[in-house]
Amino acid sequence: MSIEQLAETAQAMVAAGKGIIAIDESTTTIAKRFAGVGIENTEENRRAYRELLLATPNLSDYISGAILFDETLRQSTKAGVPFAKHMADHGIIPGIKVDKGPQPLAGFPGEVVTEGLDGLRARLEEYYKLGARFAKWRAVINISDDIPSGTCIEANSHALARYAALCQEQGLVPMVEPEVIMDGSHDIDTCFEVTEVTLRSLFGALYEHSVLLEGTILKASMVLPGTTAAEQASVEDVAAATLQCLKSTVPATLPGIVFLSGGQSDEDATAHLNAMNQMGPNPWPLSFSYGRAMQSAALKLWSQDLVNNYAKAQQTVYERAKANGLAALGQWKS
Ligand code: 13P
Repeated sequence: MSIEQLAETAQAMVAAGKGIIAIDESTTTIAKRFAGVGIENTEENRRAYRELLLATPNLSDYISGAILFDETLRQSTKAGVPFAKHMADHGIIPGIKVDKGPQPLAGFPGEVVTEGLDGLRARLEEYYKLGARFAKWRAVINISDDIPSGTCIEANSHALARYAALCQEQGLVPMVEPEVIMDGSHDIDTCFEVTEVTLRSLFGALYEHSVLLEGTILKASMVLPGTTAAEQASVEDVAAATLQCLKSTVPATLPGIVFLSGGQSDEDATAHLNAMNQMGPNPWPLSFSYGRAMQSAALKLWSQDLVNNYAKAQQTVYERAKANGLAALGQWKS
């Protein structure tokens, strides 16, 4: 795999006015989302729901790629076309979540480290053959009174760097995702400090593991006050703090940054992204890789009538993609 091909894929992922839809919920996570709206968690319902999302008419107007879960990459449309082929045929780059999820970090109560490095090389080789061209690994950094510890941040950065190097060896663009979790009563300054130290550690580890930044995408969390913080922040404050944090930690050679929504409302996720792009020019394209903020409305509608609301649910996916695509250009109007 050439450096040029990795860089080309990375650039296509953050093409102007386009972003990524994250539909890579593990079977346990989608079970929670389905339970929330009363849908039974069967393999066929998971397949049908992912088809609804991926077959949204004209999705590629605003979507460059989609992140799938292992099961979905092996599934097909009702007409028998493998999802990866359907996506490639419709201008959507197939991506795959490859981590095995966070596990408690021994000796550090309340902290987690993401697992999944064992056997990863062989899995990536297979995913490439199945059509994936980028991969995602999510690290989870929790904030509370005495956490995160330096040990937790270093352990997660090390795993992210090893994963990223393996991805590039196998021809996949690594999307590195260190998610600083919104839960908690901490203020926005605490989130800033934690995000800053996390990103510094991550880019140090990527450098030490010879990861090519030109062929890497950062999936970042925004700098926000905790969900139960006494003082919430304005859209402008969140955008300014996030930009300042990224500018002081992320090298300009990175082809792009996409954000996770992390539990923000659909409207907030779009407004924050839009504000950051209006404050530009920035060193990198800033776009989205939203899961919940892309899907929640569609899932709710679909659950109310699996047959008659199918097209309406797809329409909401398109509308969310359009709003966020415009926000990636700083052109969204509420
Ligand atoms: P949310 O946008 O729902 O946070 O999901 C994005 C994602 O892929 C988290 O890993």
